[in-house]
Amino acid sequence: MAKIILFCLLSLLACAAGQRITTIHLDGVQYFISRMNPYSPELNYFLAYQYCRSLGLQLASFETKEKAESMTTYLKNAGYGNYDFWTSGNRLGTGMFLWMSTGLPFNATFDFFENSADAIQAGLLDPVDHNSNTSPQRTARDSSSGAEKGCVILKQPTLKWMPEDCSAVKDFICEQTRCYYYNYGSIPVSSAQG
Ligand SMILES: *[C@@H]1O[C@H](CO)[C@@H](O)[C@H](O)[C@H]1NC(C)=O
Repeated sequence: MAKIILFCLLSLLACAAGQRITTIHLDGVQYFISRMNPYSPELNYFLAYQYCRSLGLQLASFETKEKAESMTTYLKNAGYGNYDFWTSGNRLGTGMFLWMSTGLPFNATFDFFENSADAIQAGLLDPVDHNSNTSPQRTARDSSSGAEKGCVILKQPTLKWMPEDCSAVKDFICEQTRCYYYNYGSIPVSSAQG
């Protein structure tokens, strides 16, 4: 056991029950891409999240344009452009799109949704300017529960963002994340303390 842990620390590879897996480093972020790992199954959104957590990672979030672009460019160049990938994005709680891994809403300065109706619902586009294909009012109310097509994939072949049923079985991208907002002040206690 100690040997496995030591091996994991030294090898710069994540460890799943001692199994060797491949991760990549892209613009300073460590990612696990399920497609690169022959033993990693395609999974629904929830199981993909749990799989990432079992590696000490989380489903990937795309908070900046640069990060989103570098991942899609990498996936296409590496020959993974013909698969769908789960991100951490979902609208399960409020009907508003959030990145589950960070708790943040989608970045309003750019929009990678395939369909403008989804971008409008995410608050990234002004409904008045983009009401040609779908009625914005209907779009906004329709999916307020977020239950249907509640989770966000990178959709092949463009790898743009697309809401999908969370139960759909897909590839997925995990990443190493950290908390940007808090320092964890930690108080040593014992269980006998009141
Ligand atoms: C939003 O995206 C822009 C462009 O990539 C980036 O500069 C900015 O830092 C992002 N904002 C957040 C809160 O991540």
